[in-house]
Amino acid sequence: MEHVEKIIDEKLQGKALVTEHKVQNGKKLFIESYGCQMNMNDSEIVASILAEQGYNTTQFLEEADLVLVNTCSIREKAEDTVRKRLQKYNAVKQINKKMKVGVLGCMAERLKEKFLEEEKIVDLVVGPDAYRDLPNLLAEIEAGRDAINVILSKDETYGDVSPVRLNSNGVTAFVSITRGCDNMCTFCVVPFTRGRERSRDPKSILEEIQSMVDKNFKEITLLGQNVDSFLWFGGGLKKDLNKASEMAQATAVDFAQLLNMCATRFPKTRFRFATSNPQDMSLDVIYTMAKHRNICKYLHLPVQSGSNKMLKAMNRQHTREEYKTLVDNIFKIIPEMSLSQDMIVGFCGETEEDHQDTLELMKYVKYDFGFMFTYSERPGTLAAKKMVDDVPHNVKKRRLKEIIDLQQEHALYRTQQHLGKIEEFLIEGTSKKNPNEWKGRNTQNTVAVFPKDDYKLGDFVMLKVEDCTSATLKGTVVGYSDNN
Ligand code: SAH
Ligand code: F3S
Repeated sequence: MEHVEKIIDEKLQGKALVTEHKVQNGKKLFIESYGCQMNMNDSEIVASILAEQGYNTTQFLEEADLVLVNTCSIREKAEDTVRKRLQKYNAVKQINKKMKVGVLGCMAERLKEKFLEEEKIVDLVVGPDAYRDLPNLLAEIEAGRDAINVILSKDETYGDVSPVRLNSNGVTAFVSITRGCDNMCTFCVVPFTRGRERSRDPKSILEEIQSMVDKNFKEITLLGQNVDSFLWFGGGLKKDLNKASEMAQATAVDFAQLLNMCATRFPKTRFRFATSNPQDMSLDVIYTMAKHRNICKYLHLPVQSGSNKMLKAMNRQHTREEYKTLVDNIFKIIPEMSLSQDMIVGFCGETEEDHQDTLELMKYVKYDFGFMFTYSERPGTLAAKKMVDDVPHNVKKRRLKEIIDLQQEHALYRTQQHLGKIEEFLIEGTSKKNPNEWKGRNTQNTVAVFPKDDYKLGDFVMLKVEDCTSATLKGTVVGYSDNN
């Protein structure tokens, strides 16, 4: 196992995504998604656009008229996985000759025309800001030509496209609030593949949440590469705020205000959000979280390294000391807060001492969850151009194992803190191991499994926590929570 993955739901990786059918639609779309939640959500937007073009989704690759794969470029391994899938499509295309294949998302954006040259199977290449152009692009490929659109946008947020929910549990859903990233961490390909950071109109966000609430969804996760940087003043890039009218500036909405609006307007709905970049995190957000019971007490706060030298080389805009102060303040305001990290080991020039700094920082915070990776050089990034990927593979692997082992100790420690308590859990599905048990999460994002009894999917229940493994709580439901 390369890393402990909790945010990227492994069981959804590459799983064919299906949605409700429109009877009048005659064409079949097979769509699968790799990478982050943003990609899963983008696939829902794409399926929504294609439903208007006569496509229903199918789980069977063999019968598809159109196969779309939404791709991830974050590490080399993610790209390798997609290349393997393309070989599989190729084999199927030998039998189903009319099948067309399109590549969406970050790999499409990174490789552009090269995709059409390198992978003969590919008919269509579409970057993350060009999904509205799909109807035109499909007309091109139907006329027998390859089609490509990888233009990045300064204002596209798909705010008015109502995503169809694919493979939904009917209880939890994602709503995108920002797209792109302006941070330029030196290791990261996202600013190149997803373009400039832009925020979505709060009005369209609230409308989308309202429609989810009407459909009985109970928990919404607000998504963005860097949600704390959210700023709406009528559209456009953040740096243009000072060019906006006085009125627009005075009525601008930042992330803490957006959270407050969501939590106030939908008091029975739980809210989560990801991802928070420590440099853009304001204590206003923490105070807003403290004020509302329905904002979950869980923060994904990637740090990447505990060494100041590495943080600087990575172009992260904070020191280890500043990060620790932020964590101290968070715990002061919300003692029960649960925290998770992203960590990269073996970045350019990382010494044993830098690695020890990372372990020390982890011991200081004792994260509830962690997502840990070995550094993978990405073409086009500043690190690839200017720095040397000089930590040997076996050293990266050893350091990764050390941080994963330590993270597991901390996860166990944090999980054990729930023992003996009675906490609220939202039922979101059946336990993987036992069909007679529900699976749910508490405000801290910790998973519990418990007997189903007469409780239903989507119920908020009070659970007496009696036992645990390092990642999962067990217990007995003592009744409904007053949030139902
Ligand atoms: N702002 C986004 C970042 C997306 S990338 C978010 O936090 O969700 C998710 C994580 O992948 C990063 O936090 C980082 O830990 C890891 N990552 C990014 N580029 C990487 C690279 N070149 N090699 C290894 N891990 C990387
Ligand atoms: Fe990547 Fe850094 Fe943005 S990790 S997504 S450039 S915050």
